[in-house]
Amino acid sequence: MSTVSVYPVSPLRKKVTTLTFRQKKQRGEPISMLTGYDYPTALALDQAGVDSILVGDSLGMVVLGYENTLPVTMEDMLHHSRAVARGAKNALLVGDMPFMSYQVSVEDAVRNAGRFLQNGGMDAVKLEGGRERAAAIRAIVEAGIPVMGHLGLTPQSVHQLGGFRAQGKTAVAAARLLEDAHLLEQAGCFSIVLESLPAQLAEYITRHISIPTIGIGAGAGCDGQVLVTHDLLGLFERFSPRFVKQYANLHDEMHKSFRAYIADVQSLQFPAAEHTIMMEADEWLEFLAQTGHELNPV
Ligand code: KIV
Repeated sequence: MSTVSVYPVSPLRKKVTTLTFRQKKQRGEPISMLTGYDYPTALALDQAGVDSILVGDSLGMVVLGYENTLPVTMEDMLHHSRAVARGAKNALLVGDMPFMSYQVSVEDAVRNAGRFLQNGGMDAVKLEGGRERAAAIRAIVEAGIPVMGHLGLTPQSVHQLGGFRAQGKTAVAAARLLEDAHLLEQAGCFSIVLESLPAQLAEYITRHISIPTIGIGAGAGCDGQVLVTHDLLGLFERFSPRFVKQYANLHDEMHKSFRAYIADVQSLQFPAAEHTIMMEADEWLEFLAQTGHELNPV
């Protein structure tokens, strides 16, 4: 049973769909995508006019504090997807399928993809991998669910890749990635994320497939860009990939605000009169008379 409430889409902005993605590629208009994991951020992203919000399994690292994305569950993803769906009405909402939710069988993949739409309020799903995922992608698409692919650095394969490292740096690896991009397109993906690839290769793939590519650490030649919002805002302190542009340092802002609050509490500066609720004097006197207490007991 879905618990997502349905608000009307803003009359000023049309809902972004997979068709919008395709039209933007045809018109050469860059697509903007950011990750979101909660209601207030989704609201802010949507109001800012981002084309698409990815409820990424990166939430395992930047929100839940895991070392990598492998421990993230379907329940984690659906919980955060619902919060985002309550906040964002116009952006195309993409739910990231977590590790082991689509690798074991095609049936599992279709069932779990369906949960993102039925119980998570998402419009589409994303999953990682190339040719080895073609059957699952085809089956999910046949069920009527739009799929975004993800090639290059695929964080769920971090142990197989030997760490979070750039991919496609040799001619052989590049040729395989190009083939994978064609296979994902043929399997029915509406778009593909290209992560941590040489810029020439990402641009070449982008020019040779008909569906939009969304780059992260893959240069300016993709049809769109995505970043992890916590990296962009400077909210994740553990490390920052070279391809991130940090637009704010909210970690420092939070630190300053928390220190100021603690100091105010310790020095009795907070709460002040404007943060305080008082009873009318006559009600207070009547209360004291009822209880038989002194006016100013110590
Ligand atoms: O999980 C995520 O946030 C992602 C993006 C980095 C593309 O997959």
